[in-house]
Amino acid sequence: MPSVYIKTYGCQMNERDSEAVAAQLAAKGYARAASEHVADVILLNTCSVRDLAEQKALRKMENVAAAIRRSRPGVVLGFLGCMAQSRGRELIDRLPDVDLVLGTQKFHRAGEYLDDLFAGRRRQVVDVETEPGSEATIREHLPERGNGAGSDRGSRWPVSAFVSIMQGCNQYCTFCIVPYTRGAERSRTISDILTESRELVSGGVKEITLLGQIVTSYGKREIGARDGKSAFVQLLDALNGIEGLERIRFTSPHPKGYGDDLIEAYQRLPKLCESAHLPVQSGSDRVLKRMHRGYDREWFVGIVSKLRRVKPEMGVTTDIIVGFPGETEADFEETISLVREVEFDNAFVFKYSPRQGTPAAAMPAPVAVEVIEERHARLLDLVNEIGKRKYRSCVGGRAQILVEGPSRKNPARFQGRTRANRIVVIAGGADRRGDLLEVNITGAGLFTLYGETVD
Ligand code: 5AD
Repeated sequence: MPSVYIKTYGCQMNERDSEAVAAQLAAKGYARAASEHVADVILLNTCSVRDLAEQKALRKMENVAAAIRRSRPGVVLGFLGCMAQSRGRELIDRLPDVDLVLGTQKFHRAGEYLDDLFAGRRRQVVDVETEPGSEATIREHLPERGNGAGSDRGSRWPVSAFVSIMQGCNQYCTFCIVPYTRGAERSRTISDILTESRELVSGGVKEITLLGQIVTSYGKREIGARDGKSAFVQLLDALNGIEGLERIRFTSPHPKGYGDDLIEAYQRLPKLCESAHLPVQSGSDRVLKRMHRGYDREWFVGIVSKLRRVKPEMGVTTDIIVGFPGETEADFEETISLVREVEFDNAFVFKYSPRQGTPAAAMPAPVAVEVIEERHARLLDLVNEIGKRKYRSCVGGRAQILVEGPSRKNPARFQGRTRANRIVVIAGGADRRGDLLEVNITGAGLFTLYGETVD
């Protein structure tokens, strides 16, 4: 059977989609290639959220076509995911070596199309149609292949797994391409999600991260609120009951989805981790309005303080865009002051990137590149300064970590995460993967803590 190499760009949703495609192909007998140089199928699962991500994947495919396709003409090349969805056939017009362009609602058909291509039944495939029910097709997980530190302990999957709960977004923020690449909101059923999660837990998974473009909108249409609880909170309640599951996380929520039912869930559900990635995008009400975010600064600051009131140890991170069209120095100063006020654990700071077809791309008063660069650097300095201070303040304290495996930087050490989602590196020889450990925090670097196990 042919071997396949998948390279993923972008968010965790894309990682999860790649994992499901890999599992689907493995079930058909495809081998996993260690690199593109030996693969018979090379798939790039793409991201469209900023131009840089698109350019990276395009350049990669150009290089692959030039270096690999020329020497091994039988190799199949494909684009999957968001850029495949937004650009479709245009990708083949631009790069005629590409055989397969598969949109975001068609991942489950990758195997069938590859069969067609190998059998010569089709020369090229472009499928970017919408497909009812596609949200329920991202199911298969890839069993671990005996190389993980935990495999000798009988676990089939990693310690921490992603579960897709919904697809698409109806928010239509003016800067964002996601509603066009991922389509309208569609949710899986609670029972489907529970079945998948139970299966993962029985394979050794201790932590589940629920995924969706806007998870707080989960089940709005299909399930609806009951007894004052949104469908999303009903799902959290159900997951909290899974025996053997230790931790529940989710990404990405929308700030407007933080009703009191969700705030209370942090108090009520012991498995729900004290951590929230809350994309704020800007600290200026004027900009938030033009972004069509659906909340103002006061609402945002309000939910962070409510969350910290119920869980003082809450880890809060965010995404911020600098240089949105028409952003003035005064607007930017509002963002700076918000970051000072909220004191995020960490923030991802993005330079605004116009996306074709989005309302913001046609807005007047684009911000000059040099100004965007300067604001980006200034904000990043502040984020790092606050992050350092917050991480240093953890030293001397105690935390529970879930050990994920060897430290990325130093394989002689182990790495885990606190419930607030801070990485802790600990010394250790024995395999503690999958263990929940109490650690004393003894040191801090930039966005990393160091600890020792409590004896
Ligand atoms: N330009 C820059 N950043 C963007 N994001 C989304 N769209 C754009 C864009 N056009 C950022 C937002 C979002 C994160 C995933 O990417 O901050 O939360």
